[in-house]
Amino acid sequence: PRVSAAPVPPMGWNSWNSFGCAIDESTILRAAHALADSGMRDAGYRYVIVDDCWQAPARAADGSLTADPGRFPHGMAWLGAQIHALGEKFGIYQSPRERTCAQLAGAIPGATGALGHEAQDARTFADWGVDYLKYDWCSAAGSVADQARTFARMGRALRATGRSIVFSVNPNSAHAVTGIGYDWGRVADLWRTTSDITDAWHTGCPAACPAGGALGVTDILDQQAPLWRAAGPGRWNDPDMLEVGVRGTFSLDENRAHLVMWAMLSAPLIAGNDVAAMPASVRGVLTDPDVIAIDQDRLGRAAQRVRDDGNTEVWARPLADGSVAVALLNRSDTPARIVTSVAEVAPAGALPPATSYTAFDVWAKTTVATTGGLTASVPPRAAVVYRVSCR
Ligand code: GLA
Repeated sequence: PRVSAAPVPPMGWNSWNSFGCAIDESTILRAAHALADSGMRDAGYRYVIVDDCWQAPARAADGSLTADPGRFPHGMAWLGAQIHALGEKFGIYQSPRERTCAQLAGAIPGATGALGHEAQDARTFADWGVDYLKYDWCSAAGSVADQARTFARMGRALRATGRSIVFSVNPNSAHAVTGIGYDWGRVADLWRTTSDITDAWHTGCPAACPAGGALGVTDILDQQAPLWRAAGPGRWNDPDMLEVGVRGTFSLDENRAHLVMWAMLSAPLIAGNDVAAMPASVRGVLTDPDVIAIDQDRLGRAAQRVRDDGNTEVWARPLADGSVAVALLNRSDTPARIVTSVAEVAPAGALPPATSYTAFDVWAKTTVATTGGLTASVPPRAAVVYRVSCR
């Protein structure tokens, strides 16, 4: 079996959600420094990932990929070295087909996808010190079998370099595929499970919106609910990068609910906000150690939705120390009192029978004793999460 470069879900930052194609080496380095200065690096956000739009429009004479010299005048090896010097790791973006997504959309010129250049591109990335590759399908064509073969080719090329490089694939960009459709853990460390996220609580996509319309936090949760079995140590569902603090559209409760539900899913935590301009409240959400501990739990089990009442939901996942994380999610615009119990969540993570349990509220940082009932008054668009253990 494949040895994963991501035994726990990767954590880091990616340029796309805040900056899109408006990136250059100073954008990236500003974020890398801010990760270190803000405490995000030390909280676990280590991968600094340069998304689409870094490439020059054509390959060099020898066929190798080069960075756009206007945006990245010092080149990618230099950028990687700067990132490494901060105690961080370097991630980059490429597409397995003719064009990257931004090239496909006409946002940047060129056709410099990896097709036919897999071994050469993998060697280039290894030479640049790349630690993480986001490999993005970007085509409406191709079956899931084509995708699997094509992704596997780059997976082998990366391994052949001898460098440990996290391999993140996206079968769902510019393609009708949603959900999983294949056992992606055979070829990659993580795989996107939906089309793109946006900074909304709810958009109604993919069911009730134009093809390719972006999803909100709760739309993505609906898509994740059946997928929990696919995740495990070294293989992760990727419900897309975080919108926490990205454009200031989310309330504190929404930011918290988004992050903690991604932690419940054992999802990669890839921040997308402008870290250098981040308010203290956003920093506080992103760096919360109790939430990060759930995400990074070495059991690697993703949460199951044990109850769905439409507006309110209960999710649970077992943790390595024998405790169970229980999320009481209020999707609605009015406060809700949510009642569940140790017994109700047992199918998703059973606790030993006991006469008394403790429930630690990960956001409020309070602990209550309970004989088994778990109750919370949950504000609109918010999640209360308890870490429940035997006393
Ligand atoms: C796709 C991906 C996004 C981002 C863009 C870049 O839409 O899903 O995450 O990488 O391409 O063009």
